[in-house]
Amino acid sequence: MENTKIIIGSDHAGFTLKEKVISLLKELKIEVEDVGAYSADSVNYGPIAKRVAEKVAGNDDWKGVLICGTGIGMSIMANKVKGIRAAVVHDTFSAKATRAHNDSNILCMGERVIGSGLALEITKEWLAASFDAGKHAQRIQFILDYELGKQQ
Ligand code: RB5
Repeated sequence: MENTKIIIGSDHAGFTLKEKVISLLKELKIEVEDVGAYSADSVNYGPIAKRVAEKVAGNDDWKGVLICGTGIGMSIMANKVKGIRAAVVHDTFSAKATRAHNDSNILCMGERVIGSGLALEITKEWLAASFDAGKHAQRIQFILDYELGKQQ
């Protein structure tokens, strides 16, 4: 993902891991925009996921990382935005596969599910992997067409 910029967000349950992922991204010299949460005070994940997803949608220069307790609430909200393919990932195999096969543009993780060591490895794998295109491009096209109302 050369030249990719990352917009990152979390709720309170993902705040600590978000800070660690931001440190990693800065070490990797990746431009990062942090849209909060900025503390462990309780906050709704929906508006954070919406903000990240709307920036990533239709903007190939930007990809997103969203972290909550499970990664699931974030992914459900982000996937409501057209053009978003947000994947909840808790293992390194899926991190690579969801870039290669799904061209995922947002990585979601759950701080209550995995440790920070694994989460940082997942982030690195996801960033390093690329879309395989080919037959997978047709599968993504089906999803894009569905979003535009072109599929029954
Ligand atoms: C917060 O308690 C928790 O519900 C949230 O972080 C997330 O896991 C939702 O999917």
